[in-house]
Amino acid sequence: MIAGHATASGTARFRARFPDLSAAGHLRAPSHVLDVADLWLSSVGLGTYLGEPDAATDTHYAEAVMEAVCSGVNVLDSAINYRFQRSERSIGWAIAKLMESGIARDEMFLCTKAGYLTYDASVPADPRAYFMTEYIDTGIVPQRELVGGMHCIAPSYLADQIQRSRRNLGIETIDLFYLHNPEQQLSEVSREVFYGRVHAAFRVLETAAEEGKIRIYGTATWNGYRQDPSSREYLDLARIESIAQEVGGQRHHFRAIQLPFNLGLPEAFTLHNQQTGAAPVSTLQLAEELGIAVVTSATLMQGRLAARLPSFVRERMHCDSDAEAAIQFARSAPGVTTALIGMSRKEHVQSNLKVASKPLAGKDEWDSLFSRG
Ligand SMILES: NC(=O)c1ccc[n+]([C@@H]2O[C@H](COP(=O)([O-])OP(=O)(O)OC[C@H]3O[C@@H](n4cnc5c(N)ncnc54)[C@H](OP(=O)(O)O)[C@@H]3O)[C@@H](O)[C@H]2O)c1
Repeated sequence: MIAGHATASGTARFRARFPDLSAAGHLRAPSHVLDVADLWLSSVGLGTYLGEPDAATDTHYAEAVMEAVCSGVNVLDSAINYRFQRSERSIGWAIAKLMESGIARDEMFLCTKAGYLTYDASVPADPRAYFMTEYIDTGIVPQRELVGGMHCIAPSYLADQIQRSRRNLGIETIDLFYLHNPEQQLSEVSREVFYGRVHAAFRVLETAAEEGKIRIYGTATWNGYRQDPSSREYLDLARIESIAQEVGGQRHHFRAIQLPFNLGLPEAFTLHNQQTGAAPVSTLQLAEELGIAVVTSATLMQGRLAARLPSFVRERMHCDSDAEAAIQFARSAPGVTTALIGMSRKEHVQSNLKVASKPLAGKDEWDSLFSRG
């Protein structure tokens, strides 16, 4: 297991490797976020969700990760269930290779998630029997806390998944560990039961942080932060942060959220669905106020924004291609630390990273995408 984690000096060293990208503002520090305030993190990160669970895709992801890190990306995102643990293992393989070539562990910010039960590399002959033997009979997943037959945030399960992810990635410390789509729980349990489960989950995550198994934790979501408060899956960020304070005090480690944000899913910015004071604010605004970093996902709407954007978007983002314009939009959003792009092909890494050498979109031009004029 590789020791260490991303540090201020390591990420500054990483930043110094890319003077042109650094001058353009591609590496930035989330200065409002305790524990990671002085880390230089890339405005674009590499995600590993999509793709077949096969050896060819493993190799492609490993090559894409190496290409990305060597091109100025130091935020890597996975989840234990992505491609049945194979994506974490591809990242682990790539990290080991990168370290042989002189990149140090403290330059990279490695993130993963747990929530969905997953197989080990491929679908077993009897999936139900596999889950029973691996998770239920062992007591890792208490059956009463399993939602939809596949989602769990129980303490024993999270502790188990942290160990497995550390092994898959080959690292002692995960920089950022997320609860994966916690809003999934709300499809079966009441809001009060849900917040009780979040409380118990945060306890185990605070302990993992104290033990050095993770550095900080967060919630990676799909619908939760993009919905109206009346919706069943809505997540109240202020309430969740207050649970972290109950569990970990002022110096708690709930320091990041992840949610989709792209030209087609702009709610993190446009929807005022979070309440703190008198007036509701957007999730991006509240996260900033609470000292929580925002990582965004689905920058290309799973590839669909890489073609057929209206020409004014390319023009206002000063980009030659649709993919570049969509990336420029996401990484230039106020309050976003890193916009994740799923890339299993190194050709995509090469073309997508071109935008990193441009300055971020100016506020007026960025805002103008929301007006018809
Ligand atoms: N709830 C959650 O926690 C959650 C949900 C969704 C996503 N995520 C995270 O966010 C990451 C990004 O989201 P995503 O992967 O779902 O979607 P995405 O980044 O919007 O799109 C990824 C897809 O776009 C393709 N692509 C990349 N660059 C391209 C280009 N220049 N031209 C054409 N196609 C291009 C990729 O192909 P190749 O693979 O062939 O390169 C892949 O199929 C995920 O990988 C995951 O790490 C988290």
